[in-house]
Amino acid sequence: MVKFADYEAERFQNYVQGRALTRQQLETWIGVFRSLLPAGRPLVGLDVGSGTGRYTPALADAFGPVTGIEPARRMREQAEAQSQHPDVRYLAGSAEDLPVERGSADYAVLMVAWHHVQDQPRAARELARAVKPGGRLLVHSGFSDHMPRIWWLEQFPRGPEVDASMFRPLHEAVEIFVAAGWRVVGYQTVEEPSSGTRAELLEQLRLRTHSVFSLFTADEIDAGFRRLEELVAADPTAPVPSQHLPLLTLERR
Ligand SMILES: C[S@@+](CC[C@H](N)C(=O)[O-])C[C@H]1O[C@@H](n2cnc3c(N)ncnc32)[C@H](O)[C@@H]1O
Repeated sequence: MVKFADYEAERFQNYVQGRALTRQQLETWIGVFRSLLPAGRPLVGLDVGSGTGRYTPALADAFGPVTGIEPARRMREQAEAQSQHPDVRYLAGSAEDLPVERGSADYAVLMVAWHHVQDQPRAARELARAVKPGGRLLVHSGFSDHMPRIWWLEQFPRGPEVDASMFRPLHEAVEIFVAAGWRVVGYQTVEEPSSGTRAELLEQLRLRTHSVFSLFTADEIDAGFRRLEELVAADPTAPVPSQHLPLLTLERR
């Protein structure tokens, strides 16, 4: 599991800018969530590993009150600085220790956070405690045997391979969740629209907010950025391709 300490030490500073979602990207995710979450409104939600709150206010707008739970204080502070939403609160905690009552949530999401969770079996049980029977858990994460093609990563030597090394296979996550009281609703990919132009992406990547940068050698980083600079110079306004990103949906038994 990737150590999260760097979110406390430095990565928090650039995360908002380096990982900004476009309105279309956010709307795409919310549309997918709408098709997967229980029908009633309002729904009580948990955004576990909420980081700087990229999804949290949009979840509240779409479904009802959301608690963002995040271990890194500085990421929480960034989230609070980003928006003050009447239906959003951010609490200290982790997937392994959720500061909420048993059965208090209709759903939980884990967006790009599962691979940071150190004790996954405990987290799966804790999520099952917090979410009521029939409630849903949406896990957007890499899985080592279901890695999406990411255009910019392919410009780095060993990029996709190094990225995959941060993740475990899908069946392992399924086994952990099933043992903890979840049933699998389905696995799918979500087509996330383009983030914008190549030139814009290069500027975001220079902020190095992706965990994978800590696993590349200095030479690999140099080579990757040189390659991206060439591609940007050749066609700066070319849109970055859309991405087909993994999403695992579970239901609390
Ligand atoms: C890649 S960020 C994603 C943040 C947010 N979900 C998003 O999509 O912008 C991963 C987040 O997981 C948090 N995290 C690390 N360990 C965690 C744990 N055990 N439980 C919950 N979140 C954790 C990190 O502090 C970090 O904010």
